[in-house]
Amino acid sequence: MEINRTCLPENYTDFFFVDLFERFPETFLVAEEDGQVVGYIMCRIETGFANFGLGGLIKKGHVVSVAVVHEHRRKGIGEALVFKAMENMQVYYGAKQCFLEVRVTNDSAIALYKKLGFEITKTIYGYYADGENAYLMTRKLG
Ligand code: ACO
Ligand code: ZN
Repeated sequence: MEINRTCLPENYTDFFFVDLFERFPETFLVAEEDGQVVGYIMCRIETGFANFGLGGLIKKGHVVSVAVVHEHRRKGIGEALVFKAMENMQVYYGAKQCFLEVRVTNDSAIALYKKLGFEITKTIYGYYADGENAYLMTRKLG
């Protein structure tokens, strides 16, 4: 929660974190370095229409929030968190796709997601509280 508050303008109530942890523990991961938590990812499994291929309802993994403390960036931690969360969405919860929203100006996060095979699916205008647009980025799992 402290990393979330220091790294991102999107912050949440205590209940929100605990609720995601209790409902989807396998995709709520932290990265540790020397016993200190230096990064986290938290996700939600949702049911919705497929973005690719045949129609119909499927399970999708939604990356709600991911961040790595400044001093430990660019060491592969963010990539490892997203990679493992995607694996666990599939293995534990049967998700077929993964998606997330990201600020259109967040170049480092967009680069990370592209490296991991996400594509920009659409722009969501005025998504953030300050009015900034989001890209919806999506990837197939499996
Ligand atoms: N510039 C360009 N590309 C970058 C950058 C950067 N500053 N940072 C990461 N990347 C890309 C690169 O392709 C990199 O691979 P490479 O190092 O082999 O070139 C790849 O992402 C993997 O980088 P990692 O080292 O794994 O990423 P890091 O641990 O630094 O974490 C993160 C990336 C989570 C985006 C971090 O910068 C961060 O915490 N930012 C602030 C919080 C944030 O914006 N979170 C995402 C919001 S959107 C959401 O949560 C759904
Ligand atoms: Zn989201």
